Amino acid sequence: MTVIKLKPHKELCPDGAVLEANPGQTLAEVLLENDVKIEHACELSCACTTCHVIVRKGFNSLDYASEEEEDMLDKAWGLESESRLSCQVVVESEELEIELPKYTINMVSEEH
Ligand code: FES
Repeated sequence: MTVIKLKPHKELCPDGAVLEANPGQTLAEVLLENDVKIEHACELSCACTTCHVIVRKGFNSLDYASEEEEDMLDKAWGLESESRLSCQVVVESEELEIELPKYTINMVSEEH
């Protein structure tokens, strides 16, 4: 089991959380299984950016993002150097600490 720590997010997990994942699962799957309702507008197929997360710890233990993922990430709200699309991140054995961005591109476009 791999430990995944979530930093608090106002709507999705107000108190933060510590989750357990099986290596080989994607991060988005782990979040959804644990009732952290991260958006996933393209159904986890790397075609939107709503599942964007920032990997605060363990980023370098992950496989590199594909070119496809990098291209999509460029469109994400609040992009950082440790940003990933959670549907493309395969959990390995190293503990991760994840921050869920305040907004997704969907919310931003709805507000404007
Ligand atoms: S759910 Fe659309 S890119 Fe991850």
